[in-house]
Amino acid sequence: MNKLSSSYKNLVDIHCHVLPDIDDGPQDWQQSLEMARVARDNGINTVVTTPHWIQGTSWQPNYKTILEKTDKLNELLSSEKINLKVLPGMEVGISENLVDLLNSGEILTLANSNYVLIEIPFMSLPFGLEEIIFEIISAGYIPLLAHPERNRDLHANPARILDLIERGALTQITTGSLCGDWGENAKDCSMKFANMDAIFSVASDGHSSSSRPPEMLTGLKVLESLIGEDKVLEILTNSEKIITKN
Ligand SMILES: [Fe+2]
Repeated sequence: MNKLSSSYKNLVDIHCHVLPDIDDGPQDWQQSLEMARVARDNGINTVVTTPHWIQGTSWQPNYKTILEKTDKLNELLSSEKINLKVLPGMEVGISENLVDLLNSGEILTLANSNYVLIEIPFMSLPFGLEEIIFEIISAGYIPLLAHPERNRDLHANPARILDLIERGALTQITTGSLCGDWGENAKDCSMKFANMDAIFSVASDGHSSSSRPPEMLTGLKVLESLIGEDKVLEILTNSEKIITKN
């Protein structure tokens, strides 16, 4: 267990690439299990697995494959006595017919909730993002923006996140950003979001057991130094709400 952990237990990691051979996460079941051990040893007890789904690329996993691999990983975790639960999800790139794909079930929400994890690119914000947010909300879903603190447009104008939140989007900040893992701009931006009360949830965005591990405690302590433990606990509760809202 990480020495920094105190109050942060039974964490829910709502953005993690833990399924094997499906995107740029682990390549086999052994690597997935190693990631699971790292998650468990760092206070995480539930992971929503979020393989990339990006239209027009080779990363367009069939939802059935995700459900099957999630079931198999849970079986392996049980037989290996790793106390971790994995729930299905996706990290979805912006696409024109997103709502149709959600309604047809081809795109998975987070843990069968109405929250959709939307990948925010590193360069410019997608054209028409405001309209896309409106369409998603109108269809009864909640857009959860993945790692907006890593986006160049928001580095230049962090307060723009408040407009997106006003329109009904929520945010997921990657804990490593708060530690500087994604550079100074992402660190500054995530800290500004914290001070603007613009962080709805945090997650590891883990991809491996070593270079991008499913670990949140270090970033949570940085967040705690900015906004206090009570507020951090409130943010963690939001992830719990996502996985229990079905
Ligand atoms: Fe991701």
